[in-house]
Amino acid sequence: VRTAGMDAGEGVELRDQIGSGKVVIGSCDPLGKPQAIADWANAGVTLFSLELIPRITRAQSMDVLSSQATIAGYRAVLMAATELPKLFPMMMTAAGTLTAARVFVIGAGVAGLQAIATARKLGAVVSAYDVRPACREQVESLGGKFVELAIDASSSEDKGGYAKAMDEDFYRRQRELLAGVVAQSDVVITTAAIPGRPSPRLITADAVRGMQPGSVIVDLAAERGGNCELSQADQRVTEHGVTILGPTNIATDIPNHASQMLGNNVVKFLLNMVKDGQLNLNMEDEIIHDTLVARDGQVASSRVKDLL
Ligand code: NAI
Repeated sequence: VRTAGMDAGEGVELRDQIGSGKVVIGSCDPLGKPQAIADWANAGVTLFSLELIPRITRAQSMDVLSSQATIAGYRAVLMAATELPKLFPMMMTAAGTLTAARVFVIGAGVAGLQAIATARKLGAVVSAYDVRPACREQVESLGGKFVELAIDASSSEDKGGYAKAMDEDFYRRQRELLAGVVAQSDVVITTAAIPGRPSPRLITADAVRGMQPGSVIVDLAAERGGNCELSQADQRVTEHGVTILGPTNIATDIPNHASQMLGNNVVKFLLNMVKDGQLNLNMEDEIIHDTLVARDGQVASSRVKDLL
């Protein structure tokens, strides 16, 4: 599941056990840890990176990032709901009217959209923001309110549908504008990511101090430094009464469905490559071409080579 650059110690022990001439298929962080890929190539392993599956229709059933992000988005909301000293739904009870929790989701990719849907099902009032303008319709279709920031983000999407890294001025302006929305929220769930780059820093310590005590932030980007300045991977941080969780590898909390989806993804990936019981590495196939990162003792991916 997590190999080479995704493994603690970059998988050196496993790499040496596997040895030359074997094929490994897994998540291996080729864009974040290109040197680990070079080391695995040197060891003679043929390595496929499941993160590099192209986002084309034919490959949707193999997309492990999407399947695991679905779990992360769902689970993040449950974590927040458990932490929050309030209920999520609005309730009119004999003991008075309870207002609905306000949930703000930053980053409306697969995890963010699932977080929006889950928070809505629990009865929260949900708003969301993403740097890619195309997200508005998706957020609204799930019953979320799309937050518009007065900032030009028209060049923020690459041709693969991912967000591009923007300059520091852009992020500074984003942080200022987001602080106002964050201050109004009981729960903030952040999922903003740029492939192969550190997570964009979107919530400052000051913005956290602007929240009501008891509020909760779940930072799904904590593994790559976090969207919130105060997040720490796999730690609970409390600042000014605000709880900040930075769970990584969150799919392991829901192992049954996480495994079912991952298993299905990998089976579909294999079926595309195996012909008559043999691996058929047809490099004309975009899926095989893009995911093969090490072969014959060499780094095979041009994206990884560029980074090295
Ligand atoms: P991701 O996990 O790479 O990033 C999460 C979200 O954070 C993205 O929506 C991104 O735009 C946003 N983000 C990045 N920087 C930000 C910033 N500074 N401020 C606010 N938001 C920021 O995204 P994920 O889940 O991989 O989705 C990316 C796109 O790919 C989506 O449009 C998704 O629908 C699409 N997709 C397409 C697939 C296919 O066609 N097979 C499969 C899965 C996703």
